[in-house]
Amino acid sequence: MPPTRTGPPFRAHSIKDGPFVCTACHATTPRWVGRCPGCGTWNALERSAPSPTRRPATGGPVPGPGALPLRDVGSDLARLQSTGVSELDRVLGGGVVGGSVTLLFGPPGIGKSTLLFQVLSAVAAGGADVLLASAEESLAQVRGRAVRLGDVPPQLLALEGPDVAAIEAAIGHNRPALAVVDSLQSIADPALTQPAGSLAQVRACVERLTRLAKTEGVPILLVGHVTKDGDLAGPRAVEHLVDTVLSFDGDRHHALRVLTSVKHRFGATGEVGIFEMRDDGLRAVPDPGPLMLGDRMAGVPGSVVVPVLQGRRPLLVEVQALLGPGGSGGGSGTPRPQALGLDAARANLLLAVLACRTVMGAVLGKPPPEFFVAAVGGISVTEPASDLAVALAMASVADGRPIPADLVAFGELGLAGEVRMVPGVDRRLAEARRAGFTRALVPASTPCDSVPKGLLVEGVRTLADALHALWRTPVGETCPGTMPGWSTVAAAASR
Ligand code: TYD
Ligand code: MG
Repeated sequence: MPPTRTGPPFRAHSIKDGPFVCTACHATTPRWVGRCPGCGTWNALERSAPSPTRRPATGGPVPGPGALPLRDVGSDLARLQSTGVSELDRVLGGGVVGGSVTLLFGPPGIGKSTLLFQVLSAVAAGGADVLLASAEESLAQVRGRAVRLGDVPPQLLALEGPDVAAIEAAIGHNRPALAVVDSLQSIADPALTQPAGSLAQVRACVERLTRLAKTEGVPILLVGHVTKDGDLAGPRAVEHLVDTVLSFDGDRHHALRVLTSVKHRFGATGEVGIFEMRDDGLRAVPDPGPLMLGDRMAGVPGSVVVPVLQGRRPLLVEVQALLGPGGSGGGSGTPRPQALGLDAARANLLLAVLACRTVMGAVLGKPPPEFFVAAVGGISVTEPASDLAVALAMASVADGRPIPADLVAFGELGLAGEVRMVPGVDRRLAEARRAGFTRALVPASTPCDSVPKGLLVEGVRTLADALHALWRTPVGETCPGTMPGWSTVAAAASR
């Protein structure tokens, strides 16, 4: 008679599931039995590693310890949750993934806290608990901002203070649907001697929060600051530790804000979200056209619109050029342009191409005027695709002739004056058409199938071709010559 058994009931085991190992004496048996044949303990056998002779039904390799057929593993994307902010969801490919860590970085004052507060409010308004760990601002300050942004749902919990352990405890205890930590440079691990914001602190805190996010399955959004001249002890140094890195940028003097994904483990990078900063918070801008071009004065020399790509999203930006009264080049040579929202060195190179490779050389020769070029609307344009537009804007203002208001232009310029192909031609042209433009000057190698209906597209091989296509009459012939000491081509040629 076996002894009367106490403890938990027998578990059901298939005898095919072996081998089994005794948890008391580590003896193995090929099949499950109620009492260990080695030490006699009852109900102590646990299944060990799978039988080496068993092959998966699908015919794949026999997985060793720790390895699994990948197709049997569930996808992280199954745990995707909307942030309640459409432009952020767009950038993230639908929302945040449970257990993921996202770093939102940008210069101080750009609106990071505002954006993430709006995310917390939106998720909380949907009925889920969310948590804000504010290390940078007091809760009274946070509440002050919240008043501007609307109601505060009761599901929004907030915690003040820099101690990362306290933040961990709050997240672990409340298990919120989403947690925001604001900011990375203000939290600290008290066990370390370095100050908050030092590289050691930033790294240690991100590591701790990443571990916590994974174990609790809570998505954590971290705020990180960067300074204009670099990255402090900061966001760039921890990019590899987090799942997603988002950049939030814009010109603080303008309302437009651009959200871009720099790294994204769960989807494509290059998606861009556009917001407008208003008195009552950030508003998603699905169509930035009116905001960017709304105040444009058409018909003024020196203005041209270029469709640029922000990530994969086309955006129409007005490029302007202006001539100042005096020379900035010391009285000889080609003037050096000053640039706002554009690369000054590149603008200088484009001016040289304009002077050396087109008839504009005669106009630009003497005296050297002072050139200003700008991308207006609060967007910095660094794409080479804007070269043609910048050069045309300078030619237009130098020659005193406006560029047709319904025209866009794009293409990279080489030093030989050639107009080179750029990526995303179809998206640029489609956006121009959608916004009501009817003419486009583009690289001659643009494929015909990227041209939308209703847009007259002229392929140009060189910058000189582009000037001719613009005005059809030689440069200088209609120059009003109102600038003191300013010469037209004809006048310059007769000297
Ligand atoms: P904030 O989110 O605090 O910036 P960050 O966290 O990136 O440092 O907001 C920055 C600026 O935005 C602040 O100077 C005021 C302005 N702002 C508005 O214009 N409208 C608003 O509704 C809010 C909340 C802020
Ligand atoms: Mg802030």
